[in-house]
Amino acid sequence: MLDQARRALIASSRSDVPPFIVMDVMAAAARIEARGGRVVHMEVGQPAASAPKTAREAAKAALDLGDIGYTQALGIPPLRQRIARHYGETYGVAVEAERVVVTTGSSAGFILAFLALFEPGDRVALASPGYPPYRHILTALGCEGVPIEISAATNWSITVDALLAAHREKPLQGVLVASPANPTGTMMRAEALAELIAAAETQGIRFISDEIYHGLDYAFPAATAAKFSAQAVIINSFSKYFCMTGWRVGWMVLPDALLRAVERLQQNLSISVPTLSQIAAAAAFDGRAEMEAVKHGYEENRRILVEGLPRAGLDKFLPVDGAFYLYADVSRFSRDSLDFAKRMLEEAGVAATPGIDFDPVHGKEFLRFSYAGSAADMREAVERIGAWLR
Ligand SMILES: Cc1ncc(COP(=O)(O)O)c(C=O)c1O
Repeated sequence: MLDQARRALIASSRSDVPPFIVMDVMAAAARIEARGGRVVHMEVGQPAASAPKTAREAAKAALDLGDIGYTQALGIPPLRQRIARHYGETYGVAVEAERVVVTTGSSAGFILAFLALFEPGDRVALASPGYPPYRHILTALGCEGVPIEISAATNWSITVDALLAAHREKPLQGVLVASPANPTGTMMRAEALAELIAAAETQGIRFISDEIYHGLDYAFPAATAAKFSAQAVIINSFSKYFCMTGWRVGWMVLPDALLRAVERLQQNLSISVPTLSQIAAAAAFDGRAEMEAVKHGYEENRRILVEGLPRAGLDKFLPVDGAFYLYADVSRFSRDSLDFAKRMLEEAGVAATPGIDFDPVHGKEFLRFSYAGSAADMREAVERIGAWLR
């Protein structure tokens, strides 16, 4: 009896995933602000701008009509068609609307994709540093994220050699890449992406491409995996380029063979994606001019940091190719990025995310700065960090 009762109180081992440390930084920043202190926020990876006006207007009109019921599990046809058209317009790649599945943010896309692709125990290669939920979602589903260390020597991405070496050590069933990536802000060249996809597919390793930061590319245009393979699973979202984090709407482009499985999963797991958000997302594509202006703001922020941080003392960082992240090496000052982030927050009033959130090994020497805020904030951060490190 006692044993049974005790078991009922313990969470399952697969739910035992680590928390997001950035949340601790946010809580500490909130405490400083509650005391009346000033904090420049560079810890959170979300746009400060609102969703495009076109999206907000479409949502308002739909709300006034009041007809907000369930939708088809794979998404409303106008949105699936509009997303398919986007591939032709943006990348010159033909994608049929039937292969597009609307999801509750890209986060739900990962759950659906992993469930449809992998068996419990399957191993999926992930770049380290990388976005922590990839690994944690895999863990919760009984699969294993296999970290592949990336560095300047590998152009900050998983190389064919590294993938094949990990596969030889113990077979992999999948590999997931993001370009632009979080937290590094680095990107893969189209040729490198194409080579990696070809190598993975030759070995029967399923390829997943997280393209959530597409549209936010500054160094060179981001390439879609859809251009190189009809077997790759592409995951994307309205959260970043379209500034729609809270609307919780994203999409996948799937190989034909997975469509019915994902449809059945979505029917059972969530029935459908929030209707209002789908309607808004379809209209978001008409607000691209507004979003391009937001992107120009990030470009200016990027320029301020790339020029200003070295003067402030942080002169070692990864190529600032895309997304809105700058990943800085702080090992000159500290080998404990959590402590460094805490002190920078308390003493300089600048909040950034310690690298240990993204890389348990080398993350102790890195900080991630998000430049999704205002140009004035970027200038202030450079000033404050410079004065603090001097
Ligand atoms: C690389 C990456 N992928 C996916 C997500 C999840 O975003 P969403 O669920 O809002 O689409 C994020 C969020 O920060 C991210 O940085």
